[in-house]
This record gives sequence, structure tokens and C-alpha cells, in this order.
Amino acid sequence: MDCETDEELLELVERARKYTDQGKVASYIPALERAEQNDLSLALYYTDGKCLKAGDVEKKFTLQSVSKVLALALAIMDRGENEVFQKVGMEPTGDPFNSIAKLETQIPAKPLNPMINAGALVVSNMISGTSIHEKLGRLLALVHDMTNNSSIDIDLEVAKSEFETAHLNRSLCYFMKQHGIVEGDVEELIELYTKQCAIQVTCYDLARIGMILANKGTDPKTKRKILPERIATIVKTFMVTCGMYNASGEFAIQVGIPSKSGVSGAILSLVPPSLGIGVYGPSLNEKGNSIGGVKLLEMLSQRYDLSIF
Ligand code: DON
Repeated sequence: MDCETDEELLELVERARKYTDQGKVASYIPALERAEQNDLSLALYYTDGKCLKAGDVEKKFTLQSVSKVLALALAIMDRGENEVFQKVGMEPTGDPFNSIAKLETQIPAKPLNPMINAGALVVSNMISGTSIHEKLGRLLALVHDMTNNSSIDIDLEVAKSEFETAHLNRSLCYFMKQHGIVEGDVEELIELYTKQCAIQVTCYDLARIGMILANKGTDPKTKRKILPERIATIVKTFMVTCGMYNASGEFAIQVGIPSKSGVSGAILSLVPPSLGIGVYGPSLNEKGNSIGGVKLLEMLSQRYDLSIF
């Protein structure tokens, strides 16, 4: 991969790495516990093809909740905006990503947004295909197109580990099935969702996905429209309002870069119109966001004046 190490970025990574001791690697999905707490890396990918990196950007990790952005884009392409947003809302929550509380107080039991687990499960349920294999294949094809990397696949060990322990996500599904928001077989949906979350990438891949979103869904190299501009706009907006869960407001103020985190320590970020950013740091803060990654994005935003606001 044609990506140069940048000394200034490396200095920021080393400064942010100091915070990784203060967090914890996710353990509720047992296979994620293998990650190394002090890892921290960053890749920047620009629309003109330039790529800068700092740290071990070739290291692989799973998308986890970052996959929610891509699954949402695919579900809207498949079903259209109206159908998708009949089943999932557009409003942020002040609750943790896996909370069930609001489902009981909202009537109908429609999840507040597609970036929390309940909403993401509903969205995955709307991806078109006659089998899990086909639905997942279509999601992977989108990831391959956005990253220009067709070798990306699923980490089956992580998927299995989550499938065996996803009791809370099953509860969300059964609750929503009772209320007619989720349809079909819950075990199949959990298999699809856990495999979607276990798509394995590098920071470089994340940065390229960010760059395509920053460029309104079009690959600047081939000029191919991978996503309609409207769908790119919708997912970027969710990244701002809900991408960092119940830390999205503070993150918007301190960093101001549209971002989506995952419990693997992944953060997908972008600065319109020309920059995609991929961050990996598995040590998490209490809200489930990469502690070093958030610090690093804060420093990056300040140093290069990247806030979109
Ligand atoms: O459903 C879960 O719990 C995980 N597969 C993904 C959660 C996640 O990444 C939340 N991120 N901060």
C-alpha cells in the first residue's frame, strides 16, 4: 500500500498513546480481549490518492459498530428512505449503545436511531437477499468497493464469540419482534449482525471508506458512484449526531469530525470534501469509544483545524 509515515502524525499518536492505559479492552465479546491495550494507529486518505500513516496501520481488527454505517447505506439503497425510517428513527439517545430502556417507552417500539444496537439490528433485518450468505455477500461487496480491497472478509472467530454471547442483542430482537418492528427468524438475524460486526479491516481501509463518504459517495479514482449522494449525506449526518453514542455531543464540540466508533477500538472519520481518517486503538473509555483514538482525533482536529463547525 502506498502510504507514507508522517512524523508529525507519529508525534500525535505517541502523545495520545499515553491515555491508552486509562481505558480497557472490550471483554463482553470474549474474542476481542486478545487485542493489545496500547495499540494506537492512524491513516489519512485524501481524494487525490495521497495517504499518510502513523503507527501499525496494517494491523487488522473488526468493524463492530462501524459496520452500522455501511449496513444503513445498503438498507436504504435496497428499501428506500421511507421504508427504512418507518422502522427506525433519526434522533440521538442519551443512553448506552446496547440499552433496551427506550424501546419500552417509545410507542411503537421503534429504535431511536440506526447507530444504537436496537436500530442497527432493525437495519440489518432490511438488507435484501434470500439467505444470510447473500445479504452478507452484498454488504461485503460494498465494503470491497469503498476500500478498493477485495480481500476483506469476516473474522469468524470474533463472529462466533459474539454469536455465543449476544444475549442482550437477542433480547432487543425478541422485544422488537413482539412489536412487529423485526420480522423473521431472530437467530438468523443475530448471525447476520454478528458476522457484519466481524468484518475485518485495517486503518487504511477505514480511511478509504471515510474518503469515499467525504467525496459524497463517489470513488475519485474510477469516478464510479458507489453510493448515491443523498445516502452518503444521511449516513454522515448520523455519524455527527449519533456516531459516538452518548458521547456524540461532547465529541462534536471537542473534535467536530463526523465519526463512528466500534468496541473493537475502531473509529471511522471523515472531513468533507476530501479526507477520510481511520483510527484503531482497542483501549476503550467507559462509553465504549477508543480512549486513545478520541484523544488522537481531538489533537488532530486542533492541530489541523479540522472541525466542520
Ligand atoms: O453488538 C455489539 O455489542 C457489538 N457487535 C458492537 C457494539 C459496538 O461496537 C459499540 N461501540 N462502541
